[in-house]
Amino acid sequence: MSSQLLILMMILIEIPPSLTALDYYAACSSQFRCGTITADFPFLGGNRPEGCGHPKLVLKCSGNNVTIEIMNVTYRVLSLNSGDQTLRIAREDYMNGDGTCPSEESNFESTTLDLEVFDYGPDYRNISLLYGCPFTGVVLYPGRFTCAVDGTLNRDAYATWDVVEKGICLARVTVPIIPILTGLLDFLIISKVGDALRRGFDVKWKVGIEECDECKSADGVCGYDLLNQTTTCYCQGQSSGSKSCPHLSGT
Ligand SMILES: *[C@@H]1O[C@H](CO)[C@@H](O)[C@H](O)[C@H]1NC(C)=O
Ligand SMILES: *[C@@H]1O[C@H](CO)[C@@H](O)[C@H](O)[C@H]1NC(C)=O
Ligand SMILES: *[C@@H]1O[C@H](CO)[C@@H](O)[C@H](O)[C@H]1NC(C)=O
Ligand SMILES: *[C@@H]1O[C@H](CO)[C@@H](O)[C@H](O)[C@H]1NC(C)=O
Repeated sequence: MSSQLLILMMILIEIPPSLTALDYYAACSSQFRCGTITADFPFLGGNRPEGCGHPKLVLKCSGNNVTIEIMNVTYRVLSLNSGDQTLRIAREDYMNGDGTCPSEESNFESTTLDLEVFDYGPDYRNISLLYGCPFTGVVLYPGRFTCAVDGTLNRDAYATWDVVEKGICLARVTVPIIPILTGLLDFLIISKVGDALRRGFDVKWKVGIEECDECKSADGVCGYDLLNQTTTCYCQGQSSGSKSCPHLSGT
């Protein structure tokens, strides 16, 4: 019990110097810029260090492409709209893959959102992609294609609406799409499914929204307090975060 207390005290003593070492007002005033994407709070990444945004909203720039990782799946950020807190994202494993066959790096994880941080956009529908299905002479779903998958010689694969079980197939990936496919017949033209995957889907971030308004109107810059796990406000000339900038608020 006392050793736990000691560790806790060490953590508490360790962190403040690294927090004050940085001018957070200046650091968090800078924007993330990459390709066509610009972002500020609640995002991290690029020249926005830890403490400037939510730890689960980390953008990465590679070439001119922006990616974000959500629940162990990497997504390409196609657009970012701060006005309505919306990201249009598409799975990187299908951006680099071949149509409906993901790239070699794919772990065939289904898309799941961290619901503490994101909500699904208003308009989407799930599709399922099944891989490594044995050929039985029976066509399981109209959206049929071939795809080589590690660990099996079965190259049959299928795409269909909604969340279906993998059944006799080796792997299943479910992913939301914006509703550009309308009926089951659209799955007959498998290139349409690949297009839909690359067009992505919308997610809305729901952290650091209202809390930030007060700070901004007091000429502060929003950041994230890692210890308290809340939005905080960095003011010019102040070494640590506060709820808002007191000397300027109330005008
Ligand atoms: C960026 O995206 C384009 C289009 O998907 C792709 O051709 C290019 O290789 C990507 N660049 C990097 C560095 O990933
Ligand atoms: C992400 O992957 C790591 C290592 O592969 C694993 O330990 C962790 O539980 C995964 N997280 C989620 C949310 O699936
Ligand atoms: C889509 O799939 C996700 C994850 O399986 C699920 O949480 C969500 O409710 C599904 N949405 C619809 C509209 O079916
Ligand atoms: C973190 O929370 C504690 C207790 O609620 C409070 O005393 C402290 O001022 C907070 N720190 C910051 C930087 O907001």
